[in-house]
Amino acid sequence: MILQNEFVNWFRASSPYIHAHRNKTFVISFGGEAVLAEDFDHHVQDFALLNSLGIRLVLVHGIRPQIDQRLAKLNATARFQEHLRITDDLALQCVKEAAGLVRVEIEALLSMGLANSPMAGAKIKVASGNFVTAKPLGVIDGVDYCHTGEVRRIDSAAIHQQLDQDNVVLISPIGYSPSGEVFNLSAEQVATAVSIALKAEKLILLTEQSCRNPDSGEQIQQMTTAEAETFLQHYQEIPDTVSLSLKAAIQSCQAGIARVHLIDRTQDGALLLELFTRNGIGTLISSMPYEDLRPATLNDIGGILELIKPLEQQGKLTKRSREKIEMEIADYVVIERDGLIIGCTALHPDGQQSGVIACLAVHPDYQGSARGNRLLDYVYCKAGQLALKQLFVLSTQTMHWFIERGFLSSDINSLPDPLKKLYNPLRNSRILCKEIE
Ligand code: ARG
Repeated sequence: MILQNEFVNWFRASSPYIHAHRNKTFVISFGGEAVLAEDFDHHVQDFALLNSLGIRLVLVHGIRPQIDQRLAKLNATARFQEHLRITDDLALQCVKEAAGLVRVEIEALLSMGLANSPMAGAKIKVASGNFVTAKPLGVIDGVDYCHTGEVRRIDSAAIHQQLDQDNVVLISPIGYSPSGEVFNLSAEQVATAVSIALKAEKLILLTEQSCRNPDSGEQIQQMTTAEAETFLQHYQEIPDTVSLSLKAAIQSCQAGIARVHLIDRTQDGALLLELFTRNGIGTLISSMPYEDLRPATLNDIGGILELIKPLEQQGKLTKRSREKIEMEIADYVVIERDGLIIGCTALHPDGQQSGVIACLAVHPDYQGSARGNRLLDYVYCKAGQLALKQLFVLSTQTMHWFIERGFLSSDINSLPDPLKKLYNPLRNSRILCKEIE
């Protein structure tokens, strides 16, 4: 029974994202390592699910380990410079073989439709082709990259045409030149260029490891492009799979892609968790912060009411009508996380030198992570701007939280007159006060 409820709740909670993602273009890239892994069929099944939810899907695959395997068989060494392969004639032959093989394997998996398998009834059409025009990288700092190239142009019209027909587009890290030459490209660069050319909604980079803060070991949930740049400069020793993906993410965001997701492909189901839950499981890079503390607007009233309703029912907050919040909206500040109001508070100034902090609330799923402190810091800052000298709180159940933050017990007589009218004797709240410098 509990499991059934969980399923229903989970499915309902994912519905805003099902709506949001429909008809949007997602570019997903993954390394050749993912293709070699035993659970690659799970990824393909998840791609199929995205396709059936109406997402326009472009897959860009890598082939590094497959090329290395071939070179090793031929007793040739793989040569790299600045994370890019130097593709001599022999390596180019391996590149062509590896790209062909990997493409065929992915197409085969996408064609499966056995009854009783997750792919039953999926009927996926795959299109691949000469969508990428490339040019030679040439000689850089004296190093001749031979057949390694860089993207010159993406035929976005042709890709969109395929997507319009509900085809999944599969792109290999290979480009052709107008003179018929073949170039070996980096899969991350192709994915970046494709997402920018298509003006995709998302670029999703499946990485070999998750993006963690090297100091704390904790996985990073989200970063703005600016934060990602500082992170890269500060931590130069992070694994290549993460740093190359972060660079691709920054480049795409700067070119206008709204969201880039780095997802550790070794975690089963991570793609679905990232796309269909609010918190995700990967690292989201975006130009705008994913979670934002800002002054409230009239559009936030519904969200504020939703957030404080349970607290009013528990008697932790005084009841407030929609009209009252509407009239005082300029006093409110909210924390918004991807469209959901997860925190709020208000500072009501008395028109002289005092103010009351009211309606401080943080969504139960997001408590214990300093969001209350962020709201309070904002209030202090606003109080400073208004040149207030004293802040009051009327509290029935949460006085401890304020006392730990330097508020002292006070009484009704200390309340300035304009604020006395806010005091409801029936609630018998404690009055706390803090002097501010
Ligand atoms: N599911 C949402 C999306 O696809 C949000 C994901 C948030 N992820 C994160 N790592 N913070 O855009």
